[in-house]
Parts: sequence; C-alpha cells; structure tokens
Amino acid sequence: MIKKCLFPAAGYGTRFLPATKATPKEMLPVLTKPLIQYGVEEAVEAGIHTMAIVTGRGKRAIEDHFDISYELEHQIKGGSKEYLLDEIRALITECTFSYTRQVEMKGLGHAILSGETLIGNEPFAVILADDLCTNSPVILDSARGSINTKGVLSQMIEVYERYQCSIVAIEEVPMDQTDKYGVIAGDLVDRTDDTYRVTDMVEKPDPKDAPTNMAIIGRYILTPDIFDILRETKPGKNGEVQITDALLAQAKNGKVIAYKFKGKRFDCGSVDGFVQATNYFYNENKGN
Ligand code: UTP
Repeated sequence: MIKKCLFPAAGYGTRFLPATKATPKEMLPVLTKPLIQYGVEEAVEAGIHTMAIVTGRGKRAIEDHFDISYELEHQIKGGSKEYLLDEIRALITECTFSYTRQVEMKGLGHAILSGETLIGNEPFAVILADDLCTNSPVILDSARGSINTKGVLSQMIEVYERYQCSIVAIEEVPMDQTDKYGVIAGDLVDRTDDTYRVTDMVEKPDPKDAPTNMAIIGRYILTPDIFDILRETKPGKNGEVQITDALLAQAKNGKVIAYKFKGKRFDCGSVDGFVQATNYFYNENKGN
C-alpha cells in the first residue's frame, strides 16, 4: 500500500519570473485552481490521504491554501459563491498536510531526501505539481470499447503492486527535446501494460547521446532505500543532486520499472505547456 505522497515544491521556478518572485510556482492557477491542488487531487484519486510537501523560503502560500481561512469562510458563507470552496474544503477535511523546508535548493534528489523526515521507511509516491496530468477518459481498446478513467498515480500504484520496486512514469518526447528530461533505456517486460525494466538512465542528455526518447515525467513511486542512495549521491548535471542518478543505482539491480502512462501531461513549468494546459482545461470545462 502506498499511503504517502511527497510534493517537492521548493524550486525557484525561474522560467516564470517575475510571477514567481513572491508567488510559489506551484500556486500558479490553471483556470481557478493552483497547480498543486491538481496534484493533491490526483493523489486522493489514487487512495492517498497523507500529503508531505517540501517547501522553501517564499512558499508559505502553499500552507495557507491547504488550511481554513476563517475570514473568507465568514465572508462567503451562504452566498452564491460558497460552492467555489467546495473542492478545497473537501481536500482539507480528507487529507493531512505536513511540511518540511529544503534549506538550500540543491536539486530534486536533494528535495526528495529532505522529505525523508515526513515519509519514514515505507514506499511512497512523488508528484511534481508542475507536470499537470489529466485523468480524462482514455480509450484503451477501441475494439472492446474499454475506457480508462484512472489518474496517472492510480495507474502507477497498480504497476507497483505487481513489481514491488520503484516505478517511473514515462512518455515518448520528440528526440530534440531529450535535454529537458531524465531519459531511460529499458527492456520491454509487458507489452499489454507498457512496462519496461530500466537498464540505463541519463539526466537531460543531448539528443545525440540520448539512449532513447522515453522521458521520465514528474510522477514516481519510490522504495525507501532511495534515501540511503540519495545520501551517497554526488551532485550531477548542473551541480544538483539528481533523482535520476539515485534511480540508476536501483536500476542496476533491476529494481526500476518504467511505465508508459495512459493520459495527457502538460509541462506547466514552461510557459508553452502552461498555456496549453489552460486552453485544454478551459475547453474541457466549457459549459460546466
Ligand atoms: P525544476 O527543474 O522545474 O526547477 O524542478 P524549478 O526551480 O522548479 O523551475 P525553473 O527550472 O527554475 O523554472 C522540478 C521540481 O523539483 C522541485 C521543483 O519545485 C519542481 O517541482 N525542486 C527542484 C525542489 O523542490 N528543489 C530543488 O532544489 C529543485
């Protein structure tokens, strides 16, 4: 059982300056909901109710978002706009949120290691809220009309239950974009569920050095031995402690499965991806 979800949310979000000067990137809204709320909803859909959030300086708005605002509640009570708080109220009631600070921003791997104090010794999920994934219905088998409405994390938990090792979500990206991602090489394990046993991983490779175009997106299930590995992991690409390097140590023992998820992902850490997500959700929600 995966009971906890870690949200590394300490990054500076420099691609969104000046918006992210005093506002956390994770609080930027797609329509009316901040990115991190979509992530928490995806975790809840996967049966997880314990949220562990790694924050940093200037990120207090995240804590306030997942808390009650008494003045606002008082102001809005009984009015026509009260329903706008329904979803966030439900999350606050259903989930617990705990926080720790990454004191120095030394990379995603370091942020995940900072979360150890909130996770402990159990397998856990990781969501990077700036990768926004939809769980809108996807036709899996048009002949039989089978439809999958599961979120990406739900799908990954099913894969974890089968393999009991770390799982990374992957998607094929254009070859000229491999330098934005961790990229894997692997052996196909099961064609029907699109799983690969990872044999190699490279962080942000030049297209000419990339082993494949199968890129890791911001969803992971990690076994807790990752913390000991991260403690020993030296800074890699860009001088940051990379989760890809730590996962490679697990992959060398055959302990990482890559899963080609069903659904759609928007890279909301980039302006292009953010605009695409906004358009997509606007069109999906029109008329609601
Ligand atoms: P990014 O690579 O998107 O970096 O981090 P960033 O700082 O958020 O954004 P840019 O590139 O400057 O625009 C991927 C994820 O890892 C987290 C980020 O918050 C984001 O969710 N992260 C990254 C940390 O929590 N700590 C770090 O030191 C680095």
